[in-house]
Amino acid sequence: MTIFTINEVTKTFTNGEVDEQVLKGINLSLQEGEITALIGASGSGKSTLLTIAAGLQSATDGQILFQRKRMTDMNPEQIRKIRASEFGFVFQSSHLVPFLTVEEQLLLMLDVSETKLSKRAQKEEIEKTLQWVDMNHRKNAFPSSLSGGEKQRVAIARAIIHRPKILFADEPTASLDSKRSKDVMTLMRKLTKTLQITTLMVTHDEEMLPYADRIITMKDGLIL
Ligand SMILES: Nc1ncnc2c1ncn2[C@@H]1O[C@H](COP(=O)(O)OP(=O)(O)OP(=O)(O)O)[C@@H](O)[C@H]1O
Ligand SMILES: [Mg+2]
Repeated sequence: MTIFTINEVTKTFTNGEVDEQVLKGINLSLQEGEITALIGASGSGKSTLLTIAAGLQSATDGQILFQRKRMTDMNPEQIRKIRASEFGFVFQSSHLVPFLTVEEQLLLMLDVSETKLSKRAQKEEIEKTLQWVDMNHRKNAFPSSLSGGEKQRVAIARAIIHRPKILFADEPTASLDSKRSKDVMTLMRKLTKTLQITTLMVTHDEEMLPYADRIITMKDGLIL
């Protein structure tokens, strides 16, 4: 079933006097529970498309539909709510808050997403989620004491703690070696399948493609 639709989306940036059309009419739909990989040369518009889909910046033209609702017609507060409660994000670098423990990173996200849980239920959700990514034994650790792969596993736990419908990932394995990348992708795949999350993932790494259900190639602002 289609859960997310990108319809004739364009994006034009103005650099000084010159307009550059970075997205030239993108059409893409995401199927529930599937991992879609977005590949293509540097500068082809992958991150721009991902951030527009995720409601982090606006499109110049076109429509984005999430569960048949037009995000492009929503006001900033409505978009913020969807972003906080229905979407999860994983980036190239884990972006953990340096002065929060692993557990606190997840608590913060539960706050932001306004997930209404008792203190006790929050603890339980955090413990369960950290177990999925095999990090529960480090729940009191600060990011500085974690390896790159461990940080990325915590970032994934934080991205799914509020049980989002859609996970947006921009090169989630780019800072990891081949073995750690495969571990992280195995984990992402397992989680998206068990939680029925729909994932849109940008990657440069051909080795990650077997983990995707569908591969979309971008070139010069268009889907091939
Ligand atoms: N805020 C901005 N202002 C002006 N130009 C931008 C802006 N963001 C992106 N661009 C331009 O849009 C084009 C596409 O950028 P984008 O980051 O989407 O590429 P990408 O496919 O993700 O590349 P990479 O693989 O290197 O991450 C690039 O030419 C970039 O310089
Ligand atoms: Mg990019």
